[in-house]
Amino acid sequence: MSKTEKDLMDAFAGESQANRRYLGFAQRAEDENLSGVAKLFRAVAQAETIHALKHMRTAGKVKTTKENLEEAISGETHEYTKMYPQMIENAKEEGHRAAQIAFEYVNKVEELHSQLFKKALADPANFPVQDYWICRVCGHTAEGHAPDTCPICGANKKAFDKAEP
Ligand SMILES: [Fe+2]
Ligand SMILES: [Fe+2]
Repeated sequence: MSKTEKDLMDAFAGESQANRRYLGFAQRAEDENLSGVAKLFRAVAQAETIHALKHMRTAGKVKTTKENLEEAISGETHEYTKMYPQMIENAKEEGHRAAQIAFEYVNKVEELHSQLFKKALADPANFPVQDYWICRVCGHTAEGHAPDTCPICGANKKAFDKAEP
């Protein structure tokens, strides 16, 4: 990998993180009734997404949808079979209960994500155009409609937001 290729991937990682960080900061600004600052954080977050996507494309990391689905499956699978199980163990060992619970929820959702991507990869052309509902507590990703209760974290139906189109 050349220096510039590495720079592109470093910049992609940095801009991606800045996007989520600023969205987190925007939520906090809303909690502090600082709506103007919240809007600024959200606007700059949106701009960081444009930077991140540009770096990823320039680095040649966006391939065909079939290849992208394969990469997504392998990433999600790594997360739920290796990364999170190890993190759950670490959190238990260190008695970090909040992290343990968060990792346990997320771990289950990542397994579901890998299943969804596998379904899509099996027949991309006929994969349905459907709505998704996301649990605000755990990120559970439900197809079609929100369940009465989140099967992962037990949250009420009201905790689900419709995913952006
Ligand atoms: Fe995931
Ligand atoms: Fe949930």
